[in-house]
Amino acid sequence: MIVVTTTDQLDESLSSFRSEGCSIGFVPTMGALHQGHISLVKQCVADNEVSVVSIFVNPTQFNDKNDLIHYPRTLDADLTLLEPTGVTVVFAPGVEDVYPEEDTRRFDFGMLDKVMEGKHRPGHFNGVAQVVSRLFDLVKPYRAYFGEKDFQQVAIIRSMVQQLNLPVEIVAMPIVREADGLALSSRNARLAPSQRKLAVKISEALTKSRNFVGRSSVQDTVNWVVDQINANEGLQVEYFEIVDGNSLQSISEWQNADYAVGCITVFCGEIRLIDNITYFAKQ
Ligand code: PAJ
Repeated sequence: MIVVTTTDQLDESLSSFRSEGCSIGFVPTMGALHQGHISLVKQCVADNEVSVVSIFVNPTQFNDKNDLIHYPRTLDADLTLLEPTGVTVVFAPGVEDVYPEEDTRRFDFGMLDKVMEGKHRPGHFNGVAQVVSRLFDLVKPYRAYFGEKDFQQVAIIRSMVQQLNLPVEIVAMPIVREADGLALSSRNARLAPSQRKLAVKISEALTKSRNFVGRSSVQDTVNWVVDQINANEGLQVEYFEIVDGNSLQSISEWQNADYAVGCITVFCGEIRLIDNITYFAKQ
């Protein structure tokens, strides 16, 4: 495993693989790695001759500066987790390497970023698109891996790839969870023990809401999930929407949808947790 911190070093580490025509797989991350990230890395190593993982806390996607300041940075522990995966190159650049000059590009994602995370975190997905397109430009991957934990992010990345006509295949990977169901997240490390116990209520409510499909209306299902979670002191739902998995627009009737996904964000104290559940995806 080679660890590089500048774009020149990255080019140097990849040049011989590139000239041999090796397929390069890529997993972009912001570090504070856990088994959710590692599942992406393992798939990437299995699918490609060369694998690159980036670790970069991207300032342009944080609309909340407090969140940026508190974002965990654990490079040594990250490298220890990555070592046994067989990843070829770890790219951990500084801000000046990723953004030698200010990135002023504005992407247009139509309705995709007007809802949910896009609505509640203005500018977030523009920052994600800036950094991912820049990293794609540096790494030039054949495949790139993203987690469905950030369901809307995958849709945004696919749209960006299409708009920029990039020759990269986007691979979406399932959510990795703790034994009790809580979706793994770098932010879970900030939960106090009592909050950690409460946080499980999120995935519990989502899982139980599967029984509502086709039996109760979409609106009743939404109300039930929100009430279940808000009934716990210390948990506050920011939004819960049941959307079409492709357009990300809310659905009103189960029977009119081919692909229904419930996407939720909950504040557990100050910690913002996100999760989602696919109710059904008809082929
Ligand atoms: P980060 O939050 O570090 O996540 C990196 C990748 O790991 C994302 O694709 C995310 O969806 C995936 N991931 C996180 N938790 C997961 C889980 N429990 N199961 C499966 N996959 C999981 O997402 C970002 O970083 C950034 O926005 C980034 C794409 C790197 C751009 O800065």
